Amino acid sequence: MAAPIRFFELNTGAKLPCVGLGTYAMVATAIEQAIKIGYRHIDCASIYGNEKEIGGVLKKLIGDGFVKREELFITSKLWSNDHLPEDVPKALEKTLQDLQIDYVDLYLIHWPASLKKESLMPTPEMLTKPDITSTWKAMEALYDSGKARAIGVSNFSSKKLTDLLNVARVTPAVNQVECHPVWQQQGLHELCKSKGVHLSGYSPLGSQSKGEVRLKVLQNPIVTEVAEKLGKTTAQVALRWGLQTGHSVLPKSSSGARLKENLDVFDWSIPEDLFTKFSNIPQAREVLPSY
Ligand code: A2P
Repeated sequence: MAAPIRFFELNTGAKLPCVGLGTYAMVATAIEQAIKIGYRHIDCASIYGNEKEIGGVLKKLIGDGFVKREELFITSKLWSNDHLPEDVPKALEKTLQDLQIDYVDLYLIHWPASLKKESLMPTPEMLTKPDITSTWKAMEALYDSGKARAIGVSNFSSKKLTDLLNVARVTPAVNQVECHPVWQQQGLHELCKSKGVHLSGYSPLGSQSKGEVRLKVLQNPIVTEVAEKLGKTTAQVALRWGLQTGHSVLPKSSSGARLKENLDVFDWSIPEDLFTKFSNIPQAREVLPSY
């Protein structure tokens, strides 16, 4: 039987399953396995280069009647070389075509940094001056059209989010950022909460590209102590900390056992006396470039 799913409510009223599946570098078989295990929130992005494969999995599982489209929460992201307003709807169309669906539940501006059209990778010479206000207007039009049932941003600092909130007609539903016990994003969290923006945490076990950061999360003494006291793994404790802090988490794994483990975070909790210990965890310096 599929593991139970819990939700956070977005400012659109939509229900976001609070454990989602990160899909960066994930292959189709692992994504199919994850949906079969019970994942219903699938976090995609055009730059991950696997939306076509994911589309094949969705078509198969929806076609077979294993899951209904409306039971899934599918996110995708606008890449940085598609920030010009005329490119935004074309980018979403491509994603919808690849994913073989006719709407996304959430569409995010992937980064607040813009790239020249011909560039996929953010090398310094390919960066152009972002005009997030006009990109956001095009995102709002997608929201109005119903092809993106919610819109939001990713990797936006407090400053960038505040700038956007000052001009937005549609308040972003989500800001998806790296977030875990060693990088708790407290200030950003408070800002998001006060403005009705849901914070979604990617790399909730630490960033894959920064192996040493992941080790710091999964071997952190406080996370380890709590895991031992509760009889859970450090990964489960890191994820549960995220849920109790109030944000959704987007773990990913190529292993079926770990996919299951990461979803088994609902019928137990971190008691208050142990939860408060997380505020003593030294915070890593910002590991991402600041935009
Ligand atoms: P694996 O696929 O071998 O399970 P990120 O989200 O930053 O990209 O990193 C996720 C990494 O964390 C993956 O490489 C994954 O490796 C690993 N991982 C996922 N779940 C667990 C878990 N429960 N315990 C330990 N490592 C995990």
